[in-house]
Amino acid sequence: HINNINQSSSKDDRFSSSGFIFAAIGSAVGLGNMWKFPYITGQYGGAAFFILFIACLVIVGLPVLLAELAIGRGGRGSASSSYYKLSGSKVWSGLGMISVIAPFIIMSFYAIVAGWTLHYAMLSFSGKLFSNSDFTGQFNGFMSGYYPIVWQIVVLLLVAFVVMKGVSGGIEKFNKVLIPGMLALLVIIMVRALTLPGAGSGVSFFLSPDFSKLNEESALVALGHAFFSLSLGMGTMITYGSYVKKSQSLGAGTLAIAGGDLLYALIAGLIIFPTTFAFGIDPGQGPGLVFIALPAAFSAMPFGAFFGGLFFLLLAIAALTSTVSLLEVPVAFTMDRFGWSRKSSVWIIILGCFILGVPAALSLGVLPELTIGGKVVFDWMDFFASNILLPLGGLIVTVFAGYFYKGVADEAGLTAGWFRIWLFLLRFVAPILVVFVFLHTSGLIKF
Ligand code: PFF
Repeated sequence: HINNINQSSSKDDRFSSSGFIFAAIGSAVGLGNMWKFPYITGQYGGAAFFILFIACLVIVGLPVLLAELAIGRGGRGSASSSYYKLSGSKVWSGLGMISVIAPFIIMSFYAIVAGWTLHYAMLSFSGKLFSNSDFTGQFNGFMSGYYPIVWQIVVLLLVAFVVMKGVSGGIEKFNKVLIPGMLALLVIIMVRALTLPGAGSGVSFFLSPDFSKLNEESALVALGHAFFSLSLGMGTMITYGSYVKKSQSLGAGTLAIAGGDLLYALIAGLIIFPTTFAFGIDPGQGPGLVFIALPAAFSAMPFGAFFGGLFFLLLAIAALTSTVSLLEVPVAFTMDRFGWSRKSSVWIIILGCFILGVPAALSLGVLPELTIGGKVVFDWMDFFASNILLPLGGLIVTVFAGYFYKGVADEAGLTAGWFRIWLFLLRFVAPILVVFVFLHTSGLIKF
């Protein structure tokens, strides 16, 4: 019983220094980097969009990430109670609830797409995927059955298993093995992609910019994606921050996490663009790029089943380490708010995610009539969490850290000059830009 209490209290269960960096990179690197980033880069102009994305990471991503980590470590609590502990005000803990609800919703549909990647990894390794070259038909066939739900359950059970083991014994161990392992495997696939005949035009599409392709819309998409990619605005970095030792530098951590996120996005681009260009595939074709277009490319290359399987496995790993961080947010919240044990929190929350996720999964296949105002349930959940709650959560972070959090300078531990720059970005630049993203993604302004 004593053991149980120790395990379930988050107070002394902390990350080691490197464990924190790996866990946070694990959260940041996910389907956003490997699935969404390539197709939006394809849609919004290639290299110029990539540069814009980097600028957004630096100007808004870094300051907000540091702010979230500082709020978490200063408050030493879940996303909502950290705000309360630092401000003494119920208004802030109420606002912080946005960052507890958002990851719960995101996890409900993110786990579904994570399930697709596991399914595709199996199909690819077994060679079944390549027995029939109608990849659109195969994808639609998969989606219109009940398999997506079976895989959703597998994903939820896997992440439950990790999170149940606690911060250092579960989340840290899982990421410390998988994140470096993933990098090694990605480099292997990247070499394969870069040595395909015709790969060069893909590389130049990705790396030689044509700024005339940029407009207001691409700027807002890049900023929104920088947020999503760094897992900001959803309480994950506040929650992970609450497990960081006092002696660790948050500034250095912030740079390492954003650098890691960027590195994985770069490698994903250096896999997807050379491959799609080598096989004459349009990289801007949208969400189907990875599941429909890439299998066509893998089927045409030597050892394609192996490389395809490896690619989908990596996608699955990236998705799982992000899902773990999403699960930890509501788990940490229910533990410190209601005093639940870690185990009960995990079970109850994954059950909730399953229940919320099933209509989303079905709305993409068996029950396409599950729509509201012409949008399927899956898209609504994505829209509500990623386009409404995420920018709101981000805005709350910047306003709180920029104006209301008294001890922020101590916690951030920056030198005076950097602190001034940081505060300026947090107080003026980030909130204004985030409001623009919100107006754009919520559909209130259009270009
Ligand atoms: N950063 C993850 C990705 O790029 O796929 C997604 C994500 C994870 C967003 C955790 C938000 C979050 F809290």
